Amino acid sequence: MEFLHLNLLSCLLLLCIHTLCVSSHLFSPVDNHLIDCGSVAATTIDNRQFVGDLSGKKTPLSSSAGTISLRNENPLPGLAAIYHTARIFRSPSNYVFPIRDKGTHMVRLHFHVFNSPELHLADAQFHVLVNGYVVLSNFSRVHAENPRIIEYFIWDDAEKLVIMFVPTHNSKFAFVNAIEVISAPKDLVPDTAQYVSSNNIENFDGLSKQALEVVYRVNVGGPKVTPFNDSLWRTWIPDDEFFKSKSESEKLFFGGRIKYQVGGASREVGPDNMYNSARLIRSRNDSVPKVNMTWEFPVIGGYKYLVRMHFCDIASISLGLLYFNVYVNGYLAYADLDLTYITGSLASPFYADFVVDADRLGTLNVMVGPSNKSIPYVIDGILNGVEVMKLNNSYNSLDGEVCAGLVLKSWSRGNMGLFLTLVAAVCIVLSISIVIRRRMIGSRESFQWSRLPVDVSGNHVKISSFHSEGK
Ligand SMILES: *[C@@H]1O[C@H](CO)[C@@H](O)[C@H](O)[C@H]1NC(C)=O
Ligand SMILES: *[C@@H]1O[C@H](CO)[C@@H](O)[C@H](O)[C@H]1NC(C)=O
Ligand SMILES: *[C@@H]1O[C@H](CO)[C@@H](O)[C@H](O)[C@H]1NC(C)=O
Ligand SMILES: *[C@@H]1O[C@H](CO)[C@@H](O)[C@H](O)[C@H]1NC(C)=O
Ligand SMILES: *[C@@H]1O[C@H](CO)[C@@H](O)[C@H](O)[C@H]1NC(C)=O
Ligand SMILES: *[C@@H]1O[C@H](CO)[C@@H](O)[C@H](O)[C@H]1NC(C)=O
Repeated sequence: MEFLHLNLLSCLLLLCIHTLCVSSHLFSPVDNHLIDCGSVAATTIDNRQFVGDLSGKKTPLSSSAGTISLRNENPLPGLAAIYHTARIFRSPSNYVFPIRDKGTHMVRLHFHVFNSPELHLADAQFHVLVNGYVVLSNFSRVHAENPRIIEYFIWDDAEKLVIMFVPTHNSKFAFVNAIEVISAPKDLVPDTAQYVSSNNIENFDGLSKQALEVVYRVNVGGPKVTPFNDSLWRTWIPDDEFFKSKSESEKLFFGGRIKYQVGGASREVGPDNMYNSARLIRSRNDSVPKVNMTWEFPVIGGYKYLVRMHFCDIASISLGLLYFNVYVNGYLAYADLDLTYITGSLASPFYADFVVDADRLGTLNVMVGPSNKSIPYVIDGILNGVEVMKLNNSYNSLDGEVCAGLVLKSWSRGNMGLFLTLVAAVCIVLSISIVIRRRMIGSRESFQWSRLPVDVSGNHVKISSFHSEGK
């Protein structure tokens, strides 16, 4: 009896593990380069194998000359193994990844600072280029104790993807701990979004060809979602620090199944763990609450941002009761949003993409509130998730108004600078030797050299007379 019980339990457990595995590994990317930089051995995290960047013949590192691999001898307990090593670049260096699946690729760069007897990684300052886009410039803000992962979406229709690290002349070195280059699902970055501005709403075309940097990825009303529970190994952080309304809203968790539909938002667009929590506005009496739920995201002005809002009606008791308005930066972006009309079902996910200009003050806000069609006694607004992504500017940069050509020139010009310094040093040595030679000759006819002290004493006189005048 006990045996049977145990057997049943282990069966259940296996089933559980099986479904978990299935749910987090449905997507298998054609291009899937996971690199543990500075490491010789491979490292496995959440069933994903990161290979060392110098192991094997097919290393993506185009040349190891001018690079060093560094190991953290005292990693904090619990720190993932990919952060125990780093590769250091003393001069511009490339990783070249072969691309089989043309289209959008996810590029993740992992940074974690540690100290070693040779080098303090916190002193690094560098630029990073991906396929000619400047994705990081003068990057030196890697002080955090926690690893920092920066994610980009890069369109690639060539046969390779090139990531270049360029040290600045201040620090003279760059570093990275790990790199991921993964082909994105075809439906992840569509080509068109709604451009929302003070004038009106119009189509923004060519979105998939822009370089995008993920700035915020937020699970509204729920806990952090880790790469283990996301089909594309993303991290979704809780929304509490961005949520600004204090009244009239509630958090909701849904224990049922999220109904992904063909043609709708897929599990790759957003995982169950994000869609199954939300914040909502609920009407408890015969009047619709006059409130908006507001989220504020600090951003850097001067760029366009893609705002992706995720909705899934996990709260209504029946179809056709939920209507609400969506505002981006205070502009009405979607009026009378009706999830029943769009999905035809409860608990079925939907997302909407808006492109906006960040104001110079550097805030971007999204709001959800009741619309003219909202009904009392039911739910009158909902939001499950938000993603904020920065678009490259006209310099093809995501980090400043400097293009890739200038970044590269800054390095060669710097080296030229070094050359000039050498030339200058040689000049000084030469002129000193000439002076010495002249002195040796001049000691015989010293008249010219005695002029200098005379001039100086003249200056002294002038200064003291000026002082006495002041008094
Ligand atoms: C890095 O900073 C320096 C000094 O602030 C600036 O002149 C240079 O343009 C910056 N480089 C890039 C690539 O942003
Ligand atoms: C994955 O999600 C489940 C709940 O859906 C949670 O219990 C579990 O802790 C999560 N695992 C990780 C590694 O985040
Ligand atoms: C409905 O409830 C809200 C608080 O939830 C209250 O402020 C409002 O006055 C109520 N309206 C009516 C008509 O009772
Ligand atoms: C919500 O915000 C929008 C935009 O600022 C505003 O027009 C609307 O009146 C607000 N709704 C409520 C109920 O306060
Ligand atoms: C809601 O109704 C008012 C009054 O009828 C109208 O002025 C306003 O434009 C409507 N709002 C929306 C978002 O349709
Ligand atoms: C981003 O780069 C692309 C490709 O160079 C360019 O066509 C586009 O105009 C840039 N985006 C913006 C917003 O300037």
